[in-house]
Amino acid sequence: MGRRRQDEYARRARREGFPARSVYKLEEIDRRVQLFRPGQRVLDLGAAPGSWTLYAAQRVGRNGRVLALDLQEHVGELPPQVEFRVADVREQSIESLEGPFDVVLSDMAPKTMGSRAADQYRSFELFLTAVEVAAQVLASGGAFVGKIFQGAEFELARDALRKHFTKCRVIKPEAVRDESYELFLVGLGKRELQAQRRP
Ligand SMILES: C[S@@+](CC[C@H](N)C(=O)[O-])C[C@H]1O[C@@H](n2cnc3c(N)ncnc32)[C@H](O)[C@@H]1O
Repeated sequence: MGRRRQDEYARRARREGFPARSVYKLEEIDRRVQLFRPGQRVLDLGAAPGSWTLYAAQRVGRNGRVLALDLQEHVGELPPQVEFRVADVREQSIESLEGPFDVVLSDMAPKTMGSRAADQYRSFELFLTAVEVAAQVLASGGAFVGKIFQGAEFELARDALRKHFTKCRVIKPEAVRDESYELFLVGLGKRELQAQRRP
């Protein structure tokens, strides 16, 4: 996606009240796999400045719930069905998340350090953390969306997801810049915990 398209997405996000244009990545994923229904409970990891949180809150409505976590604060107002916690996902206990959830989202990304391989590895680690959390808090049949920088560990990431979900998809939304190497792995149909323990 060229600079002009990026600017268009940014302008549209401002006009529609979202703090970041990343909302259109989630919107496309939602359109393609039908992630949300009214009344659902959603866990949003790596949520600041809050575009995905706001979008998910709108889709699940006032009877739903969104728990959002990030190292940083969100920008702007969030509706009452959202709880936003400033926290490191890697340090949260599973109990404190008060699951179960129907959908787990992770747009977590490491601060990039200039070494592509190192950035990819840290993105892979965050992705695995998100999958581990999802495996423990998702209701059976639930859905997961996780960002990963494409790299040497990509197949390992996909394998980790396959362990817990009956269907896995790889999506590169249109709103992702052409030069960006980020992808989203989507897990649908969370397996029962018991079924996972069978050899
Ligand atoms: C691309 S931004 C998320 C954008 C967000 N989905 C939105 O639409 O507004 C990635 C976020 O991941 C967060 N992050 C990275 N590592 C994290 C961690 N260990 N725990 C919580 N958040 C983390 C960063 O602070 C950053 O805000």
